[in-house]
Amino acid sequence: NMGRVFCVGGNWKCNGTKASIAALCNDLQGDAVDAASCEVVCFPPFIYGTYARELLREDFQMGVQNCWIGKGGAFTGEISADMIVDVGFGWACLGHSERRHLPQIKESDETIATKTKYALDAGLKVMFCIGELLEEREAGLTNSVNERQLKALADIISDWSNVVIAYEPVWAIGTGKVATPDQAQETHAAIRDWLAKAVSTEVAESTRILYGGSVSASNCVELAKKPDIDGFLVGGASLKKDFLTIVDSYK
Ligand code: G3P
Repeated sequence: NMGRVFCVGGNWKCNGTKASIAALCNDLQGDAVDAASCEVVCFPPFIYGTYARELLREDFQMGVQNCWIGKGGAFTGEISADMIVDVGFGWACLGHSERRHLPQIKESDETIATKTKYALDAGLKVMFCIGELLEEREAGLTNSVNERQLKALADIISDWSNVVIAYEPVWAIGTGKVATPDQAQETHAAIRDWLAKAVSTEVAESTRILYGGSVSASNCVELAKKPDIDGFLVGGASLKKDFLTIVDSYK
């Protein structure tokens, strides 16, 4: 995989209580992860961020699941990238399919790209999520949807060093229907080819592409063997001790 450091994100989504987060952080204790080989980031809900940071093992980084599109100010209810940096969190997960598709949210490609650029400029690393709906896959549109979502970003950034792409086919999210290792590899390779053409061969080779969608302790090892799968973005299984097995699939 060209020396790309394996990366695993745990997206806790809108889940948790003080009690469940304390229990999870306790369950996630274990031998230190070799930082040269694997990077781990957990994304708790904003309100539990500081609490989770105090309890989570130090070798796991911490990020947020969304942020405001730009500088702070009169934007009631929003949290800016600068605030996230100020409290010491290193990452934002942006463009998640739930934020793209839930009718109450409906973020556009442009909104996601603009907030990603602002977050990068503020000093955050970004897990930039892309992926197709079931009907788009069935219509043969998987690559063109991914490329459209990526192009919105490629149009406005030139430095990709703090971007990690998370490919999450929407039909695989929370459904237990994981993409097969071959299906995922094929799409990851297409994303990398597109990066080579649209951005540069250096960016294509160095940018990590994670797979997300029903990743579990039992399917992660086969997926991790694929040359263009550089890690995972995990939802449901990130709330359980199984997350450690998924982290360990870098070995
Ligand atoms: O961001 C991770 C996610 O959308 C995948 O969720 O529950 O299918 O692992 P899950």
